[in-house]
Amino acid sequence: YFIGIDLGTSAVKLLLVNEHGDVVNEVSKSYPLIQEKTGYSEQNPEDWVRQTIEGLSELVQTFTGNREDIKGMSFSGQMHGLVLLDENNEVLRHAILWNDTRTTKQCKQIYETMGEERVLEVTKNPALEGFTLPKLMWVQENEPAIFKKARRFVLPKDYVRYRLTGEIHMEYSDAAGTLLLDVLNWEWSEEMCDAFGIDRSLCPSLVESTTDIGSVTREITEQSGISKVTSVIAGGADNACGAVGSGILSEGKTFCSIGTSGVVLSYEKDGDKELGGNVHYFNHAVPDAYYTMGVTLSAGNSLRWFKDVFAEREDFDTMLADIETVPPGSKGLLFTPFLDGERTPHADASIRASFIGMDSSHERKDFARAVLEGITFSLCESIEIFRKSGKTVDTIVSIGGGAKNESWLQMQADVFNATVVKLKSEQGPAMGAAMLAAFGSGAFTSLQACANRFIREDKVFQPDPGRVETYKQLFRIYQDVYANTAALNQ
Ligand code: XUL
Repeated sequence: YFIGIDLGTSAVKLLLVNEHGDVVNEVSKSYPLIQEKTGYSEQNPEDWVRQTIEGLSELVQTFTGNREDIKGMSFSGQMHGLVLLDENNEVLRHAILWNDTRTTKQCKQIYETMGEERVLEVTKNPALEGFTLPKLMWVQENEPAIFKKARRFVLPKDYVRYRLTGEIHMEYSDAAGTLLLDVLNWEWSEEMCDAFGIDRSLCPSLVESTTDIGSVTREITEQSGISKVTSVIAGGADNACGAVGSGILSEGKTFCSIGTSGVVLSYEKDGDKELGGNVHYFNHAVPDAYYTMGVTLSAGNSLRWFKDVFAEREDFDTMLADIETVPPGSKGLLFTPFLDGERTPHADASIRASFIGMDSSHERKDFARAVLEGITFSLCESIEIFRKSGKTVDTIVSIGGGAKNESWLQMQADVFNATVVKLKSEQGPAMGAAMLAAFGSGAFTSLQACANRFIREDKVFQPDPGRVETYKQLFRIYQDVYANTAALNQ
C-alpha cells in the first residue's frame, strides 16, 4: 500500500492505494485562506500540518490491513508559496501563496536588474507575481526585521514533509517555480541569488522527487498511526504530480486539466526549447525530464461564475444539458475567459473577460456553450505554442472538472485537433504522489511500470474534421480579441 498526499490551496487530500493503484481509502481536510487585503493570499503553515496529521490518522484508522504494509508515502503540493523559517526552523510569518499578486513591483525590479532575456535564459520562466523570488523580495523590502531572521525558505509541501520527518529538503520540480533555480543545470542559480540579495544558505538542499527521505518521527508515529517502516519519498509540485498521475511520462504525452484554473502540460525530454517565456518550462518529477505548461487562470472558474450569475439554482449538468443543440461557434458568440487577468500566453493581470458578437436571437444555452469554447480556446493557445516549438500534440489526456462532461470532451478534441482520452479513475496529483511513493519505495522498476499498472483509459474522443475546420477559423478571431481589447483594460 502507498499514500499520496496532495497539499492543495483549499484542502489536503490523502489517498491510500493498493499495489494495483486501486483507491482503498480517501480523506480530505480543508483549511482557510487568509486574504487581509486585495491581492493578498496567505495560509498558516500550522493549519497544513495539523490537517495532514489529522488526515493521515483518519486514513489509517479505518484501514483494516497491517499498517506496516504501507510501504511508502509521498507529497504533491501547491507550487510557489513562500514559507520562511528562522534559525530554529520556526515559521516566521504566514505563507504567501501562488495566487497572491502583491509583487508586481518586485517583478519589474527583477527585469530591470537582470534583463528579461537573462531571467528567461537561467530560469526558463518569466518573472510572475505568483513565483517565489518576488515574494522573498517583498518580505525583504516590507518586513526587513522578519527577513533578517530568515535562515531558510521552503515551499508548502516541503514544510509539511519537514514537520513529519525532521528533514529539510526541496525537490527540483517545485524548486523550478521559485525563479531561483538554474533549470537546465538542476542547481540553485548563484547569479539569481546574488542579484537580489538572497543568501545562498536560504536555499535548501535539492533532491529528486523520488528520493527516499527516511521515515516519520516518533512523535508523528504516535499522532498519526503511520509506521516507522513507511518510507517518506520527497514528492513533487502539484502540476508535475498531476502529470505523473495521468501518465505524462514520455515524449509526446500531454494533459489538459480543467479545475478552477486550467492547465495544459506536455512532457519534454530536452531542456533547450526556446519558448520565449510564453508558457512555463519546469523540471519534471521524473529524473532528467522537463515539462512545458500553459495556464488559463479562470477556466472552471469562468463556468462557475456563469452558473452563479445566470443559473444559480441549477447544477452544472442541468445548465449544460442543451449545449449539444447549439452549433460550434455558438451562433457567432465568443467568450474570452480573462475574468481575473491571465497567465499564459498573455501574462497580463489587468486584462478582463468579454462576450463578443451578441445579438437578440441569443439564448442562455448559446452563452453557456460560448463560455466552454472560450475556456477551450484559451488552453488551445498554449497547445499552439507547444506545436510551434516542434512538438507533436496528437493525444491529450483530459482530467478534472473539464472531463466530467462528454460534450466538453468532444469540444476539446475538435478545438485541440487531437484525440482526447478520459481516464477510468482520475485522482490527479494525489495519485501522482502515490505513484512517486510506490516507485520511490522500491515497488516498481520505473515510474512508467507503475503507470502501466495504475492508469487505465476509459473513453476516447476523436476530432471531427468538419468541426476542426470551423474551430480553426473561430480560433483566429478568438486570438484577435486579446490584441483588440487589452488596451481597454489598462
Ligand atoms: C502553477 C501554479 C498553480 C499552483 C496551484 O504555476 O501556480 O498551478 O501550483 O496549486
